Amino acid sequence: KQALRVNEQGHLVLGGVDATRLVQAYGTPLVVYDVAVIRQQIQEFQSALRHSGLRYQISYASKAFAAVAMYQVIDEEGLHADVVSGGELYTALQAGFPASNLSFHGNNKSLAELEMAVENHVGVIVLDNFHEIDLLRRVLLAHKTSCNVMLRLTPGITAHTHRYIQTGQVDSKFGFDVDSGQATRAVQEVLAIPQMTIIGIHAHIGSQIFGVTGFELLVKKLMALSAQWRDQLDFTPGILNLGGGFGIAYTAADDPLTPADFIQHIAMALREAADQHQVALPEIWIEPGRAIVGPAGYNLYSVGSRKDIPNLTPYLSVDGGMGDNIRPALYHAKYAAVLANKMDAPTQETVHLAGKYCESGDVLVDHLALPRSEPGDLIAMLDTGAYGYSMASNYNRNPRPAVIFVEDGLAKVVVRRETYADLVRLDARYE
Ligand code: LLP
Repeated sequence: KQALRVNEQGHLVLGGVDATRLVQAYGTPLVVYDVAVIRQQIQEFQSALRHSGLRYQISYASKAFAAVAMYQVIDEEGLHADVVSGGELYTALQAGFPASNLSFHGNNKSLAELEMAVENHVGVIVLDNFHEIDLLRRVLLAHKTSCNVMLRLTPGITAHTHRYIQTGQVDSKFGFDVDSGQATRAVQEVLAIPQMTIIGIHAHIGSQIFGVTGFELLVKKLMALSAQWRDQLDFTPGILNLGGGFGIAYTAADDPLTPADFIQHIAMALREAADQHQVALPEIWIEPGRAIVGPAGYNLYSVGSRKDIPNLTPYLSVDGGMGDNIRPALYHAKYAAVLANKMDAPTQETVHLAGKYCESGDVLVDHLALPRSEPGDLIAMLDTGAYGYSMASNYNRNPRPAVIFVEDGLAKVVVRRETYADLVRLDARYE
């Protein structure tokens, strides 16, 4: 984990820009991405995969943070991206992202979404269920065209992470179940549809995973299945898409493997399984979201009110909260935070860092050690880049923050701050 940069005034510096200057210019709450960190995270995956000697593709899971500027950076770095809705697809296309480099995921894509994907020649549609096979077949017939597909499988693997973000276990809404033979029936069905070309199989076991065991089990399972299909159906998937889920450190207590370690173990498991089953080495795709944007993001807040309670931890409130980062309230997610305009001041107290939303559960960090602060001071929450802004809401009719990209000492607004007028833009009078 990289050290935070601090200037002579004791201010946090992000992408070469003083955080207090960002806040003077753009206000709080503010979401800031250090673009160099995004590029660095990408390059770490790229170099590990390059060293593995495998054929590979990295697809950014854009649900972690989607915006026109983000798709531009992903394209600049030569990555693919995955989208999970018509809205993400639309945003990517608006950014000029090549449709051929997109994968379209989702357990209940609508007819309109499938039509949009087909009309725009999305690179691969990841089929999730039998209903969708039928819908897509009809869309392709109507459009007199064909497309590439992958099959999303439920491998029956339980990742060690929060229950809400586990996805590989048998009891899951996603994908074709492997153990009951659903996956084999699905592949037979799709092989018989001339308009669809199965380029590979996909599985995603969960998110914020720290160890490699789940991925190793997944690789073994998918390779065994490939061998079975080769023997039974004369079909071997050319690509194994292992999904995302690579964990990041939010606090000092977190100790995930590095991207390089994940990839090295996956590559070893893959070569072993290929030997064991005498199956050719497939191309490997991964879909990291959190690991690419999480460490690059900061949420900046102004300190406001404070409540001291005899014998208890005080509440220090900031001008944002669960509307711009729902993760603490939703998953009990832990974050580190610093007093960004007094980085050199000694730690003096422990507070609960509370948001401004009308809900007791709107606490961003429990028991946060900070220097003594006063109203107007600046709090920076760290590693907020994944599933923060992308899950933001207008709860309590608070406008969503602006998003700033900083790089090489330059700051740029990539999503403007919502205004009160934006809040009523879609409202209609009832009369
Ligand atoms: N691929 C698929 C098919 C996925 O469903 C996901 C995440 C990813 C890739 C990316 O996973 P990542 O590398 O970011 O862990 N809102 C939750 C996370 C939900 C993840 C959903 N799927 C959170 O804030 O922790």
